[in-house]
Amino acid sequence: MATEPGAGLAGIIAGHTAIATVGKEGKGLTYRGYSIHDLAEHSTFEEVAYLLIYGHLPKQVELDEYKVKLRGMRGLPAPLKTVLELIPRSTHPMDVMRTGCSMLGTLEPEGPGHDQVAVANRLTACFSAMLLYWHHFHTDGHRLDTETDDDSTAGHFLHLLHGKKPDELHRRAIDVSLILYAEHEFNASTFTARTIVSTLPDFYSAVTGGIGALRGPLHGGANEAAMELIEQFANTDEAEKGLMDMLAAKKLIMGFGHRVYKISDPRSDVIKAWSKNLSKAQDDRRLFPISERLEQVMRREKKMFPNLDFYSATAYHFCGIPTAMFTPLFVISRITGWAAHIIEQRADNRLIRPNAEYVGPDPRPFVPINKR
Ligand code: COA
Repeated sequence: MATEPGAGLAGIIAGHTAIATVGKEGKGLTYRGYSIHDLAEHSTFEEVAYLLIYGHLPKQVELDEYKVKLRGMRGLPAPLKTVLELIPRSTHPMDVMRTGCSMLGTLEPEGPGHDQVAVANRLTACFSAMLLYWHHFHTDGHRLDTETDDDSTAGHFLHLLHGKKPDELHRRAIDVSLILYAEHEFNASTFTARTIVSTLPDFYSAVTGGIGALRGPLHGGANEAAMELIEQFANTDEAEKGLMDMLAAKKLIMGFGHRVYKISDPRSDVIKAWSKNLSKAQDDRRLFPISERLEQVMRREKKMFPNLDFYSATAYHFCGIPTAMFTPLFVISRITGWAAHIIEQRADNRLIRPNAEYVGPDPRPFVPINKR
């Protein structure tokens, strides 16, 4: 049944959006009409966040004001820090994001003083601090000062993670990656967020649900799973052999395939080029060549192409980011796409409630418990 037409809502138009197009002519991606290639080449994550949330590209003065606003919203309230300290060290960082988001919703609920755009900006501003406050408290025992003088989300994240200002190569690599991850139409987590918000709850409920949907390896969790795949091999030949064995065993290869794109994922070449640059910069002779060999074998054997998650894995690794933070970094970016969709859904809402085709037993008489 899982492969019947329409299973998993494949190919179903489930609503309207003016935010993004995905896979038009099998490959393209646009955010509000702008091509992902132009955005990745010429813009910054904050410009893209503004575009998604406010609906137009910012003028310089608007961008400057927006960045100042985000910088002023990075701090964490004391009760949230207490909760982060109580979350066990062994927790997956995506669960930290989910719990932190939900907790913030109790401390700064949507309502007077916190309208939906303010909540969107607050979460965009403070997700990095949330993750890294928890991380540092549990790994080196210190209570992180969540303020930095970096005015970009990418720079702020890397600074909080490594305790020093990042170099420009790493900062821009993460900035571009955040642009690529920001928005993707009716993907599973965005559709989850829209479904939740269609029942008219608060903003945080929709984002918390979105984080839950993103966590799985068929969606955002694939970047972590791709890293685990790549780094298990010592060299390219071992990678080819290992991959052939996995394909023979009909295993899913993480970071490959896509529900909508049929020819290629337009984001993959962009992040691949960054991964290659970063690999050269640190004289990596193993992970990038292994990734390329895996890509070649997947094309040859399965005619499958890498999706954004595949080369994001090594790009993040070369920036010194622990694997368990790869999907949280996706959250730090995708909050902007979720926010745009929550705002759009609310503006023209109808409860999302499809029907199911019933395949269970015919009506039958109830059997009392003492006669079963
Ligand atoms: N590795 C190996 N085979 C794959 C595959 C992968 N990554 N992705 C799809 N296939 C195979 C399926 O097994 C299926 O084969 P079959 O027809 O012999 O049963 C066929 O390709 C069609 O795949 P299907 O499961 O119908 O695609 P989908 O649209 O339901 O799923 C994904 C799309 C993204 C969930 C799927 O490609 C996948 O699981 N990829 C790996 C996880 C990943 O990278 N996720 C991030 C997406 S951006």
